[in-house]
Amino acid sequence: MRIVAEHLSYTYNAATLFATTALKDVSLTVEEGEFFGIIGHTGSGKSTFVQHLNGLIRVPSSMKRYKKKKSKKNPPLPQTVLQVGEFDLTDKKTNFRELRRHVGLVFQYPEYQLFAESVKEDVAFGFKNFAEKKPTDGEVAEAVRAALEVVGLDYNEVAGKSPFELSGGQKRRVAIAGVIVTRPEVLVLDEPAAGLDPVGKREIMELLHKLHREWCKTVVIVSHDMDEISENCTRAAVFAEGSVKYVLPPRELFRKRDELRALGLDIPLTARLLEKLEQAGVSVDCDFTAEDFIAKISALRGDRA
Ligand SMILES: Nc1ncnc2c1ncn2[C@@H]1O[C@H](COP(=O)(O)OP(=O)(O)OP(=O)(O)O)[C@@H](O)[C@H]1O
Ligand SMILES: [Mg+2]
Repeated sequence: MRIVAEHLSYTYNAATLFATTALKDVSLTVEEGEFFGIIGHTGSGKSTFVQHLNGLIRVPSSMKRYKKKKSKKNPPLPQTVLQVGEFDLTDKKTNFRELRRHVGLVFQYPEYQLFAESVKEDVAFGFKNFAEKKPTDGEVAEAVRAALEVVGLDYNEVAGKSPFELSGGQKRRVAIAGVIVTRPEVLVLDEPAAGLDPVGKREIMELLHKLHREWCKTVVIVSHDMDEISENCTRAAVFAEGSVKYVLPPRELFRKRDELRALGLDIPLTARLLEKLEQAGVSVDCDFTAEDFIAKISALRGDRA
């Protein structure tokens, strides 16, 4: 399923004194099969954007109401498009329940939302909630087992436990299992590695790649970590103050060191190292992954030997 947003704007508490514009005329396409990144300073609209993708935040059908009356002075605003595969998210008649079976959204710190008495029940809730028709107990059990196993948990060990008996990393896996249990085609995760130690972060990214290979065709992650973006993503969008500034593959994006820094963003370690090398008069063309960086530097040493 392809994701297409065009001229998407969103204001919290519109028409009140507390109105906050979170998205301004966002246009962005994510192709099926991508591992797509979304980066940007805090408050730039990343979470607001991704919550649109499964209809958690709706495109106001009142969009039309906000439009000024047609006049020569104020030409009509460009049409808002928000499409995920076949689903038109600007249409309030769209079956959003079915959409949510195809587009899974994992919130930031999803483990805080675990609530059931056992891991098994928590994951089953996600499945039953979005099932097309009432599943049998056997179907539920099978789906829960498969979801827990794909996120790397031992079903027999954890299924009967309270989520609160598990470690932080395990809880996050349970929360992810509760979303992927419907086998969504598109998996969207808001800061999936936030708050984990370096090993936990690496394991979560490995899990997302496994899910990308085996369960969910398209993965979209919001991240603050530029190394995570350069190592993992096919392309990334840079949000700033509710607008999209760039949508580029990491290889091109992280050449824009000055532009990213001007937006208050960091650059990956590899990009910082390449900058130092450039300052020392050595120029290396690299895609900003550690693997490519090492290969290019080794080749350089080979040349000089
Ligand atoms: N529920 C809400 N009510 C009112 N304003 C909100 C709400 N959620 C977000 N905002 C505002 O909308 C803007 C965009 O917020 P959003 O959470 O989408 O940014 P973000 O890029 O995800 O930030 P962060 O990196 O801190 O998670 C900010 O100005 C924020 O204060
Ligand atoms: Mg956010």
